[in-house]
Amino acid sequence: MAMSPAKITSEQEDQMFRLLRQLDVAPEASQRLMAQAIGVSLGRLNALLRTAVDAGLVKISDRAGPDKRARFAYAITARGAGEKNRLTTQFLSRKFAEYDALHAELTGTTSGLAPLNHRTKLMQQNLSPIPELFVSNDSAQKLKIEAAGLHSHDLTPRQICDLELLMNGGFNPLKGFMSEADYNGVVDNMRLADGALWPMPINLDVSESYAETIEIGQDIALRDQEGVILATMTVTDKWEPNKAHEAEKVFGADDDTHPAVNYLHNQAGKIYLGGPVTGLQQPVHYDFRGRRDTPNELRAYFRKMGWRKVVAFQTRNPLHRAHQELTFRAARESQANLLIHPVVGLTKPGDVDHFTRVRCYEAVLGQYPQSTTAMSLLNLAMRMAGPREAVWHGLIRKNHGCTHFIVGRDHAGPGKNKHGEDFYGPYDAQDSFREHQEEMGIEMVDFKHMVWVAERAQYEAMDEINDKDDVTILNISGTELRRRLQEGLEIPEWFSFPEVVKELRRTKPPRAKQGFTVFFTGFSGSGKSTIANALLVKLMEMGGRPVTLLDGDIVRKNLSSELGFSKEHRDLNIRRIGYVASEITKNGGIAICAPIAPYATTRRAVREDVEAFGAFIEVHVATTIEECERRDRKGLYKLAREGKIKEFTGISDPYDVPANPEMSVETENVDVDNCAHQVILKLESMGLIAAG
Ligand code: PPS
Repeated sequence: MAMSPAKITSEQEDQMFRLLRQLDVAPEASQRLMAQAIGVSLGRLNALLRTAVDAGLVKISDRAGPDKRARFAYAITARGAGEKNRLTTQFLSRKFAEYDALHAELTGTTSGLAPLNHRTKLMQQNLSPIPELFVSNDSAQKLKIEAAGLHSHDLTPRQICDLELLMNGGFNPLKGFMSEADYNGVVDNMRLADGALWPMPINLDVSESYAETIEIGQDIALRDQEGVILATMTVTDKWEPNKAHEAEKVFGADDDTHPAVNYLHNQAGKIYLGGPVTGLQQPVHYDFRGRRDTPNELRAYFRKMGWRKVVAFQTRNPLHRAHQELTFRAARESQANLLIHPVVGLTKPGDVDHFTRVRCYEAVLGQYPQSTTAMSLLNLAMRMAGPREAVWHGLIRKNHGCTHFIVGRDHAGPGKNKHGEDFYGPYDAQDSFREHQEEMGIEMVDFKHMVWVAERAQYEAMDEINDKDDVTILNISGTELRRRLQEGLEIPEWFSFPEVVKELRRTKPPRAKQGFTVFFTGFSGSGKSTIANALLVKLMEMGGRPVTLLDGDIVRKNLSSELGFSKEHRDLNIRRIGYVASEITKNGGIAICAPIAPYATTRRAVREDVEAFGAFIEVHVATTIEECERRDRKGLYKLAREGKIKEFTGISDPYDVPANPEMSVETENVDVDNCAHQVILKLESMGLIAAG
């Protein structure tokens, strides 16, 4: 609970801040020592403690031991830690104001005219520590024990990424998941309720049923996926957002071909909770620990190395020679050091996994002049929001101590919308960054389009080449690179570094050696299982990769025996099939699935799970409901018509006909062998099985 500024003077606030800080760092100290450390009398200390206990900021308990003068023990509560974080910011800004005033007095200038030019100010800010939301180690141990009794929320992978950057100051000035007022301001005007620039909603989305169990004012524990408590949050706000409005304003269209809009509608919970967060521990990472840095760790590193200007390069792709050349140039032009700052949290579905990428980055790092360049991994969950995302990335990099930021063509672009057009213009991100950079306090370096000039055997910026007609200009697009990798074709040395190509080939063998999933969908009795079985045998006959059949009936017997046919249960069943198929695909096998899978959104979710590792071929077995009912091989349609089986697909439950399946098969006038053969031909044409 924030204290009302009307009742409390800034001196009292300072004292309260000092008290909370003191209890956080040295909870065992005696009252006399505490009073000394805070600079107040014992009487005043007792009054302060009483106020703090009444406001729930400090907890009081009996202390065992012989010393009668130290009968009570005081400890900061989760709420007290939140209040301390709030007061820290106020305390610091008051101190800065005092410093400015003193400086003006001593130099004979007024604060606004102080002889600090913008650049110097920028350097000071980027090297000094920024506020984090963590409590001290001692308090964290105590609060963890208390938090074990709180109502818990299990964080999703995206929320874990957001929480990490909230706690370590990467999302400074946010102090927790957004309140409704902050959210509304951010969605509508890119501004928090206090007017500060912030382009991206950062919300704790939860299900309706969970939200019903939470009261405003309640403290909850935020746990990672293994159940470790990372933070506590005091819930100050709970509301149902207008997601269509959020999609329109933040992502530019309510179109779920946009990955973040799809997430918003199909994965995020219906209700948002907001409130200040108290950090107890950082999320645990087992991979590349030495390459992960908090904003303050990077700031300290820059201070130590004497790096006053740092240009950050954001990426979610492997680095090739053109990137190396352009980042190096960006650093040279802005006379800055370079920070390669790749995102390893969540990126665009289908991207190269971060393990492979980090190995690639490490290979490229040696190509930069020694001690000019650093590389650090950022656990950010990207939203692919183009212009807004660029501003967000800039603010995050500023928090990490950078002074410059490279923004390219189509920065954080989500690809095409449902009409096949780009969501944003190619330079929208640069325009939006330029518009806000003064206020952000980080400068944009615009990305040069680098191309290989064969005659001069070097990379040059396209717009600086004056003899375009007389030279051979070469470039390989991302799509072309993927094609070459998939088909095992040559990737020229001028395009990438041999170590990078080797890593990429290691994780992405040619398509004919990768795993994939064939996903049949259609009514009961449409022929899915029969075709799937024929396909299974044909693929096994070819050999080379292990093949697994996940037939509807078999899965229901072995994986989903407790499930019925409600929407919720069908979704669970299909998500389980999707999970197993994605694991098989990841490990280079072939998964053939044959459930009804009546809902388009669930099929899409499964597609995303699988496509993270290999191809997904949706096959609509398009037998009409009339034909299935006429065949009625299991006698179920008759029972469904009689009302003896409820929620029967096609009779009393819906089936979303696939809008864009990879293929559709007719079974009415075609035999099973031919249907399976059509699928084989499709797989061949996609390069998934070697022809011949
Ligand atoms: S789903 O919707 O994808 O989870 O269904 P699935 O796991 O493929 O299971 C479908 C098989 O269960 C039988 N069955 C029903 N189907 C549809 N609706 C209802 N209410 C129902 N009750 C039982 C049916 O025989 C399906 O078998 P298939 O192999 O599709 O013919």
